[in-house]
Amino acid sequence: MKTVLNVALPKGRLGEKVYDLFEKAGFECPSIHENNRKLIFENPEKAVRYFWVKPSDVAIYVERGAADIGVAGKDILLEYEPDVYELLDLKLGRCRMAVAARADFRDDPRRTLKVATKFGNIAQQYYASRGRDIDIIHLNGSIELAPILGLSDVIVDIVETGTTLKENQLEVVETIVPISARLIANKAGFKFKSEAIEEIVASIAKQLEESV
Ligand code: PRP
Repeated sequence: MKTVLNVALPKGRLGEKVYDLFEKAGFECPSIHENNRKLIFENPEKAVRYFWVKPSDVAIYVERGAADIGVAGKDILLEYEPDVYELLDLKLGRCRMAVAARADFRDDPRRTLKVATKFGNIAQQYYASRGRDIDIIHLNGSIELAPILGLSDVIVDIVETGTTLKENQLEVVETIVPISARLIANKAGFKFKSEAIEEIVASIAKQLEESV
């Protein structure tokens, strides 16, 4: 019998696209289309079991071995630095991590810069590399409000289409890093289930090449 591979998928729009990719690569699990409340789906013939996980939690499941592989945004990997292997760039969910501010914002290097963000580690490292003193204001959402209400000077956040910034009269000041979804693997699982993982990675990589 083949070893079952446990796969953590990010719940939501990105997850649907990721699942389609796995399906095209030959690891389909048709029951996944039937039920929208269930969180675990298995196809014993293909030896895969999928879990729907909150996108920001995928790396936790994989790091701790509850899932052998999973798909997480590069933003989460940079922010939390989980101890996992990054196997493939799936080129899905593409966006960028950027600094944004009001159009009239002018940086005064004599003052500590107030930065509102969900990504404290990324912001900290980015400004440390430029020798800029900052004060992180950690928010959980609606980050765009912070500069409008004077809570912060700038924000560090994900920009995809730029619509959210535009609608709130903010502009990108600098791009920090491009972001996309990555296939990650648990380090121990990568040894013990190497054959199954390598097979799925090769099929997905082939699928990605063909879709270019
Ligand atoms: C992200 C981000 C922005 C928005 C950018 O939020 O925080 O608010 O997307 O996208 P845009 O450039 O296409 O407008 P998301 O929708 O992921 O929800 P969140 O606030 O829960 O992170």
